[in-house]
Amino acid sequence: MPITIPVAHDFSCPWCWIGFLQVKRLEREFGVTFDWKAYELWPEELEIPAPTPAPPAANPDRPATPSRLNLAYAAEGISKPTQRPAWNLRTHRAHEMVEFAKLSGAQDLVIERLYRAVWEQGRNIDDPETLIELAEGVIPNPQELYSVWEERRFADQIVGFDDPAYASGVYNVPTFWIGARRYAEEPYATLREALARELDSPKGPPRSSAIYAHLKFPGPPPDRPYVVINMVSTLDGKTVSGERNEPVMDLGSTTDHATMRNLQAQVDAVMLGAGSLRATPGLWYPAPLRRIVISGSGRVDAQSRFFTDAPDRAWVVTPEWVTVSPELQPYHQGFGSDTLDFEALLRSLRQDCGVERLLVEGGSELNAELLRRDLVDEVFLTLAPKMKLGRDTPTYAGGEPLPRGELLDFQLVSSTPVGSELFLRYRRNRISGG
Ligand SMILES: NC(=O)c1ccc[n+]([C@@H]2O[C@H](COP(=O)([O-])OP(=O)(O)OC[C@H]3O[C@@H](n4cnc5c(N)ncnc54)[C@H](OP(=O)(O)O)[C@@H]3O)[C@@H](O)[C@H]2O)c1
Repeated sequence: MPITIPVAHDFSCPWCWIGFLQVKRLEREFGVTFDWKAYELWPEELEIPAPTPAPPAANPDRPATPSRLNLAYAAEGISKPTQRPAWNLRTHRAHEMVEFAKLSGAQDLVIERLYRAVWEQGRNIDDPETLIELAEGVIPNPQELYSVWEERRFADQIVGFDDPAYASGVYNVPTFWIGARRYAEEPYATLREALARELDSPKGPPRSSAIYAHLKFPGPPPDRPYVVINMVSTLDGKTVSGERNEPVMDLGSTTDHATMRNLQAQVDAVMLGAGSLRATPGLWYPAPLRRIVISGSGRVDAQSRFFTDAPDRAWVVTPEWVTVSPELQPYHQGFGSDTLDFEALLRSLRQDCGVERLLVEGGSELNAELLRRDLVDEVFLTLAPKMKLGRDTPTYAGGEPLPRGELLDFQLVSSTPVGSELFLRYRRNRISGG
């Protein structure tokens, strides 16, 4: 059952480099997600002591014994890093950058770039230009980072050592919160066991992360997958928080994000419109998921994680006549000679690729295309307690309106309030008409 594990960390700490690699393994093994909590080992007000050289061995004949850190590398089966950060590295800017990236859902990619920059490339992640370079192509508008740093815009999200960190229950980084316990600087085997126990526990993980964790779906029809849509909207039905070409990770809560991952864990493929992929440069999916982006222009970024994480399972689908850039060609599939033939695409997914369950994640235009063709079996909707307004602001489904007599009927399957959000699941009612 996928859940989200908070983890307190700082980039300059070798234990966190180990923790980062552990997170990558845990993600792959359990399909869980991580909520990276910024902890700063050396906030500005603390003076960083210069390293003191190790004293000469009292008895040169005595063989050296491994340090606790070297034992940890060995326990993880990873090599000792060849690069180390400078002894006086500050990480406040890097943490601010991650908090900024959270607004566009790009935090995981940014975290990965930062850790690899320090521990594999020996780069200085306190240097603004290095950080901007690392943000390119991942965070929309990286130049805004200069004002983020100047204003210390996210300083209240970053916990400094020693006293504030201790007061929050963090004495070491990394610290993982799994179930009711904290795990600091632990080997993978311990984290793995704790997580497996938590996922199996009869009481289960906290209720909020259990929503949609064990869904039962009817079997798919023979000629297409069982198709479900998942979206979050405001109370006034809008599905964007900013502009249409911007990400929306700030619309739903972390509970909503967890339900999204829970749904992703129970389908074979995910589909989205090119507008949504362009709007969300940091978008990523669990590695096993087949992913399809629908486009009429062929204008999507072949370097995005959507493609690079799963080159053999990623498609960009257009009408047949559309040409795409050479970088996109390996992913390109054409369906329909004039306009995109969704029925043929879904048939191919079901019959050629074995996709039984397909999750559509918007946006508004793609949803409308599928709904208009009556190809959607269920809709999941998270109602976020917000109002956006706007005559032309995208809603759950755009496109052209259906005539009065052709409205699509749905029946409620479940309705789960968590805090002020409401998690709704509806199934298409094909028996009573509509
Ligand atoms: N609230 C949520 O849960 C949620 C979920 C997802 C996205 N969003 C937000 O929604 C916004 C994007 O939604 P959107 O409605 O603008 O875009 P969208 O539905 O994601 O994508 C529209 C694009 O998909 C392609 N497309 C759609 N139907 C097609 C067809 N029949 N044939 C060929 N191509 C077709 C076209 O791509 P080309 O332009 O390449 O021709 C079209 O411009 C973003 O702001 C995003 O952040 C919100």
